[in-house]
Amino acid sequence: MQKVLVTAGASGIGLEIVRAFSGAGATVAVVDIDAAALTKLQAGSPGVIAERCDLGELDQIESVVPRVIEALGGLDVLINNGGIAGQTAPVEQVSPAEWDRVMRVNLGGTFNVTRLAIPHLKKSPAGSIINMSSAAGRLGYPQRSAYAASKWGMVGFTKTLSMELGAFGIRANAILPGPVAGERMQRVLEARAAAVAAHWTKNVAAHWSTSRSRVSPNRVRSRRWRCSSRRTRQKPFRDRLLPSTATCTVRCRSSSRTPICESAVLS
Ligand SMILES: NC(=O)c1ccc[n+]([C@@H]2O[C@H](COP(=O)([O-])OP(=O)(O)OC[C@H]3O[C@@H](n4cnc5c(N)ncnc54)[C@H](O)[C@@H]3O)[C@@H](O)[C@H]2O)c1
Repeated sequence: MQKVLVTAGASGIGLEIVRAFSGAGATVAVVDIDAAALTKLQAGSPGVIAERCDLGELDQIESVVPRVIEALGGLDVLINNGGIAGQTAPVEQVSPAEWDRVMRVNLGGTFNVTRLAIPHLKKSPAGSIINMSSAAGRLGYPQRSAYAASKWGMVGFTKTLSMELGAFGIRANAILPGPVAGERMQRVLEARAAAVAAHWTKNVAAHWSTSRSRVSPNRVRSRRWRCSSRRTRQKPFRDRLLPSTATCTVRCRSSSRTPICESAVLS
C-alpha cells in the first residue's frame, strides 16, 4: 500500500489529490496550516493522518514532518502542493516581508519537507516527489513577482532533485497548472481587479465568465497522473544515465493552442 504525504492538502487542489490517493487505497497524511479544514477532512476521511503545520515555519516542519512519516510507516510519495499567492502589486510596491513570506512558504517549505522526506523515499521501492509549480513557473506574471519567482524556483528544484535522486530510483516531477477553479482563483482575481484600474473589473469578469481556461481541481489531478506517467516513460530526462527520472511539465490544457497562463494575457 502506497504511503503518501501531501502538503497543504486540507482544501483546494491538495484535497483532490488526497481524495485520489485515498480512493486508490493509499495511506495518506496531510499537513496544512488550517486546523479547521484538517478536522473537517478527518471527519470525512477518518483514515487520513492530519497534522497542523505552517510550511513557512522551520521548527514546525522539523517537528511535524518526521512525526507524520513515522505515523505513515514510511514514505513512497511526497506531494509538495503547498504554495501561497502572495501580494498583488508591481515590484516596486511589493513589501520585502511579503516577498520573504512567499519564498519561505513556497520554496523554503518545499525544500525543508523534501530534505526530511528523502531518507525515507530512498527506502521505498518506487519513491516519487511531485512538486506543485504553476504556469507562472514558465511565464512572467505581472503584479505577482514573488509568486512567479518562487514557481520558477520550484522547476529548478525539481530538475535538480530528478538528477540527484534518479540513482536511487526516485522520480521527481513538477506540475504547472494553469488557472484552477476555486476559492483561491477567486481571491487572485479579486486582488487583481482591485490592483488595476476599475474598468478592468468588467473586462476581467467578462473574460473569465466566457473562458474555458479554468479547470476544476480534480481535472488537475487526473491530467497529472496521465501526463506524468506517460511522459516519464516516454521522455526520460536528457541524461540517459538517469532513465528513471524525468521532469515533467504538465499543462492543464495541454491540447489547447491558447497561451497556458491566461493571467498573463489579462495583464
Ligand atoms: N488554484 C490555481 O489556480 C493554481 C494554479 C497554479 C498553481 N497552483 C498551485 O497549486 C497549489 C495549491 O493551490 P490551491 O489553489 O489548491 O491553494 P489554496 O489557496 O486553495 O490552499 C490550499 C491549502 O494550502 C493551505 N496553506 C496555506 N498556507 C499554508 C502554509 N503556510 N502552510 C501550510 N498550509 C498552507 C491552506 O490552508 C489550504 O488548505 C499551490 O502551490 C498553488 O500555487 C494553483
